[in-house]
Amino acid sequence: MKLLVIGSGGREHALVWKLAQSPRARQIWCAPGNAGMPLENRQGKVDVSCVPIGAENLEGLLAFALENRPDLIVVGPDNPLSLGIVDLFEKHGLRIWGPNQQAAQFESSKVFSQDFMERHGIPTARAGTFSDPLLAAAFAQDLGGRCAVKADGLALGKGVLICHNLEEAKTAIDEILVRQSFGAAGSQIVIQELLEGPEISLHALCDGTSAKLFPTAQDHKRALEGDQGLNTGGMGTYSPTPFLSQEDLEKTGQRILDPWIKGCAAEGIVFKGILYPGVMLTATGPKVLEFNARFGDPETQVYLMRLENDLIDLIEASATGTLAHHELRWSPKAAVCVVMASGGYPGPITKGQVITGLERAAALPNVKVFHAATLSKNGEILTNGGRVLGVTALGNTLAEAQTTAYQAVELIHFEGVHFRRDIAAKALPC
Ligand code: AMP
Ligand code: GLY
Repeated sequence: MKLLVIGSGGREHALVWKLAQSPRARQIWCAPGNAGMPLENRQGKVDVSCVPIGAENLEGLLAFALENRPDLIVVGPDNPLSLGIVDLFEKHGLRIWGPNQQAAQFESSKVFSQDFMERHGIPTARAGTFSDPLLAAAFAQDLGGRCAVKADGLALGKGVLICHNLEEAKTAIDEILVRQSFGAAGSQIVIQELLEGPEISLHALCDGTSAKLFPTAQDHKRALEGDQGLNTGGMGTYSPTPFLSQEDLEKTGQRILDPWIKGCAAEGIVFKGILYPGVMLTATGPKVLEFNARFGDPETQVYLMRLENDLIDLIEASATGTLAHHELRWSPKAAVCVVMASGGYPGPITKGQVITGLERAAALPNVKVFHAATLSKNGEILTNGGRVLGVTALGNTLAEAQTTAYQAVELIHFEGVHFRRDIAAKALPC
């Protein structure tokens, strides 16, 4: 089977790694890919190569796909999905997996998502959606000023402003609606009450009419230890989390997914792909903060280390509406992923630093080093962006996975490297 994987991050390297393990995979193109992906050739059993076409260059990707006719196209990031890559490719008779543009609205429009949750009784924060700054400020006042002010559209993960009093809330409303700091993505906003509790990532594989829930994972969004510093794309993950028992996970899944599936059916939305709800476990029960319409990054790295199914089979089942015939099988082991980032991330960073120690780290048992922003040049692997590597380990216990992941991290070096030393610490006794 010939596959095309769109994207270039750690999530996409994990997808390529897992897809390459399928006996059905013969050729994998990665667009644009990174330096880690071509190493997944399983001693020549699979031909894996990068194609220099950006994930948002829909016309370029379409021309490549029409010429090379992949049997299956897998989309990693949110942007091409929200730009309608699935609709475009399907119109040309290509087999592409991911939500279409209408279904991708669960991520591309927070207003759509919030209104949908309210229409269909999905547990979420008390919230309102606004385009008028005065009405927005009145609602923020109703909430006592403690709220999350969110730009409607995709804003590179920066469109959520957490406010602790009315002054901060008014400033946030002004920044998004009046000063238009996020451009058209901020022509509308969602204001949610501020929730408290552990935040977890849920993922469900969906086939248009049904959904299968993954185990839990937790991301670490802040740049610095102890959840301090700026918000990032994610500095590390682990799975499973101790915050929900299997029974509570199933109940939570039902409380969220059952009304979501019914709502999609009622509104004619056919969602094929990964639904990733960000959920806060509050004192009054789990509440959805937001929906994403794709795999999380770096959640994918820990999930795919634990997934025992053939990923091509699952993706085909999702794409063809036949998930009912499959059971997801997960390793009982725990997985931890520590992101190694460039110094300064998520602010300005320097690219082009030489990375050493990758082979020694990869030689450790139960370790997989996923590349994110890397580039291969003159036989060396160089840093090429903010999040550079996702060093991932499996262990019989979470503590063991954590220890192994950090042993591997210690072997890898590049100038200015920054990583958090407390990934998974919240889940472990001090
Ligand atoms: P989102 O992109 O909507 O997930 O928001 C980004 C981050 O802001 C989340 O991961 C939470 O940590 C935080 N956040 C969002 N909404 C809320 C809320 N209603 N209450 C507390 N924190 C929130
Ligand atoms: N882990 C955060 C995200 O993928 O959005």
